[in-house]
Amino acid sequence: MRIKYKDKSETFTEDDLKSKEPFGQFKAWFDEATKTPGVLEPNAMCLATATRDGIPSARFVLLKGFGPDGFKFYTNYESRKGQELAENPQAALTFYWEPMRRSVRIEGRVEKTSSADGDEYFRARPFHSQLGALASKQSAIIAGRETLMIKERELLAQHTEGQVARPECWGGYRVIPRSIEFWQGQSDRLHDRIRFRRREPKDKPDGILIHEGTDGWVYERLSP
Ligand SMILES: Cc1cc2nc3c(=O)[nH]c(=O)nc-3n(C[C@H](O)[C@H](O)[C@H](O)COP(=O)(O)O)c2cc1C
Repeated sequence: MRIKYKDKSETFTEDDLKSKEPFGQFKAWFDEATKTPGVLEPNAMCLATATRDGIPSARFVLLKGFGPDGFKFYTNYESRKGQELAENPQAALTFYWEPMRRSVRIEGRVEKTSSADGDEYFRARPFHSQLGALASKQSAIIAGRETLMIKERELLAQHTEGQVARPECWGGYRVIPRSIEFWQGQSDRLHDRIRFRRREPKDKPDGILIHEGTDGWVYERLSP
């Protein structure tokens, strides 16, 4: 299947960057994505992890906060992703905002967020989502849907709204980026790619191949 991208795609040049570090640039694109009709879940991102041996797996999760300390999501620490992150704390995140023909790719080291952060977010979740976190031993094999329904009924009888404590096995992670790439699809297929990465001692920004960013970042254009 091959579709034609919109005719007047927005070119994305170095001059169009809203910031010389990637978090400001991400914020600008993310804010636009949240206002763009047809982007139903702008915070949905594909999270790739891998085992110690490098066998990859990927799934979608929801972005719940971002800034220089990382890109946050919440999940079950004992799930498949949780187990992979425990043995190999590296991950990649990919967003695709189809109506805008934009994608963002993030790679970096992963850390758990604090238990206070996990508590705060858990408290803010709807009652049924809180019970869902308690009911589901995420990624485990179960006999059928009925198993979950029974568990949920038991939990409903045992808990009152506003009184559910966060289970130890549930909480947040943040991906602390080493690189963030901004991709803008173009109708002529000469897509624009600008990648920020952490500055290394050997880097000599020349304004042609390597551009000087701020806050310890450099950026460069990649061939599509
Ligand atoms: C759009 C979307 C958003 C999702 N958000 C989350 C999330 O924030 N946290 C989560 O644990 N699972 C989320 N899921 C479910 C995961 O994709 C996945 O099924 C689950 O986390 C188990 O993955 P694992 O077995 O690889 O650990 C989401 C799924 C979709 C399609």
